[in-house]
Amino acid sequence: MASSRHCPVTLFAVFPLLSLIILPCAIASTSHYHHHNHNHELKSLHFSLYQHDIINQTVYLIVKGVVGPGVGQVAVPFGTIYVFQEPMTVTANRSSAVVGVVQGSSTVSSFDGLESMAVAKITLNMKHYKGSLSVLGIAHSMKPADHPVVGGTGDFLFVQGYVTSSPVDLKGNALVYKIEFHLYWPPYATKLMT
Ligand SMILES: *[C@@H]1O[C@H](CO)[C@@H](O)[C@H](O)[C@H]1NC(C)=O
Ligand SMILES: *[C@@H]1O[C@H](CO)[C@@H](O)[C@H](O)[C@H]1NC(C)=O
Repeated sequence: MASSRHCPVTLFAVFPLLSLIILPCAIASTSHYHHHNHNHELKSLHFSLYQHDIINQTVYLIVKGVVGPGVGQVAVPFGTIYVFQEPMTVTANRSSAVVGVVQGSSTVSSFDGLESMAVAKITLNMKHYKGSLSVLGIAHSMKPADHPVVGGTGDFLFVQGYVTSSPVDLKGNALVYKIEFHLYWPPYATKLMT
């Protein structure tokens, strides 16, 4: 199964195996968009987009790592580096509206080959929000992951929070990930904007 695709890719690196398991429940979900403003102090925004990941088209293996101790069947060699630039759409359908792009790299960083250090910039061009978010964290190959948002630009200046990535679909070499954004503007950021 999916043997042509041995990489835990992208931002959030989850194996195709897992995608198949959660496909039936996740495929029907659509993006949502909620905006909260508590006491005019803590502003937050919650929505989902879909990231499309195709080996040798949107993600490339740049450096092949070394085989570390304790590497299992699904593991990727330690130090393997992938670099990606991928579209983000409003639904899981690749033909749906593109509202963002994610650029970054992922380096296999545990000796068992299951964890990767991911660094990415997500540039968003949505109806009410334009700007970028920078995301940093360790992804595990076998399970969905939360990644801290370490900052942003434009309408996301000073934003913190996290994104959750889960695989929703696998078609040949194309993988689709659902990316859930949970963004929070600290009080000083909201004050600066008004
Ligand atoms: C991607 O490209 C590399 C280098 O050309 C090749 O070895 C590999 O088989 C390709 N992988 C897929 C899944 O097309
Ligand atoms: C994806 O969108 C295209 C264009 O709107 C449509 O033709 C196609 O049927 C959709 N695919 C799925 C699986 O819904």
